[in-house]
Amino acid sequence: MRLLFTILVSLCLIAGCDNSENSIQPISNDKLLIIAHRGASAFAPEHTMTAYEIAHQADVDYIEIDLQMTKDGVLVAMHDEKVDRTTDGLGFVKEYTLEEMKQLNAGKWFNEAYPDLANKEFEQEKVPTLEEIFVQFGDDVNYYIELKSPRIYKGMEEKLFSLLKKYDLLGEDHSLPKVIVESFNEDTLTKFHTLEPTLPLVQLFSFKEKAALSHLDYERLQTYASGIGVNLKSVDQEFIHEAQLNGMQVHLYSIKTENEMKNAIHLDANGVFVDNPILSELQ
Ligand code: G3P
Ligand code: CA
Repeated sequence: MRLLFTILVSLCLIAGCDNSENSIQPISNDKLLIIAHRGASAFAPEHTMTAYEIAHQADVDYIEIDLQMTKDGVLVAMHDEKVDRTTDGLGFVKEYTLEEMKQLNAGKWFNEAYPDLANKEFEQEKVPTLEEIFVQFGDDVNYYIELKSPRIYKGMEEKLFSLLKKYDLLGEDHSLPKVIVESFNEDTLTKFHTLEPTLPLVQLFSFKEKAALSHLDYERLQTYASGIGVNLKSVDQEFIHEAQLNGMQVHLYSIKTENEMKNAIHLDANGVFVDNPILSELQ
């Protein structure tokens, strides 16, 4: 049954659903991609160099980086628009210059929140800039980068694009794309598609109820995206197969337990966002 389905998807990709006219780099669909959600966020403070290093050591396929932007226009790794939850500071990222952001501690909160996982060294953690992450890891890892809140950060697409060029991360000569860009915001993805048509883009969805996309949705997605990112609890195998038949890779977020990982594998997902990279051993 799975073989028949894989043949169908391949035929569909060859026949009609692929994006060759846009020459979008395909995201390989012959293995389940392991994406370290905010780095190895189950073991270290999310979006810190240590969380990314642990994910890299665990040999994940991608490290996931959520982007915000400082007052002076620097891209930094952080999930929330505010620094309150993951630093010892208060207020919006957009109100901090980079110099001010670098005064904040990005690890103490984790030791307080997870005493069993606490580590004194986490107290040295700072909020990393995207450029520092590229300098640290260079070509050794693949990057899955989320454009967060693009409506409040004018020009964040161009800043990301120029950093990817500066660190030569746009090449296509890799088995897996070196960079995937994702967002819940369609406008920012279509804008990025004009900046770099070959870079694979993933449209994120957060379905309150059962995931559902119309034929028109897929027609629009096929003009810019290589995949969709969907919350695990909203999907079933029928939805995932339909998306794959429409040329979309399906990446599920976020997987926290063994059962959720087994479920994602059973659903024929193409990728999973995991807080704990060791869950990849279940495949
Ligand atoms: O980016 C995929 C997934 O991470 C989306 O949810 O809130 O963790 O960014 P969030
Ligand atoms: Ca994310």
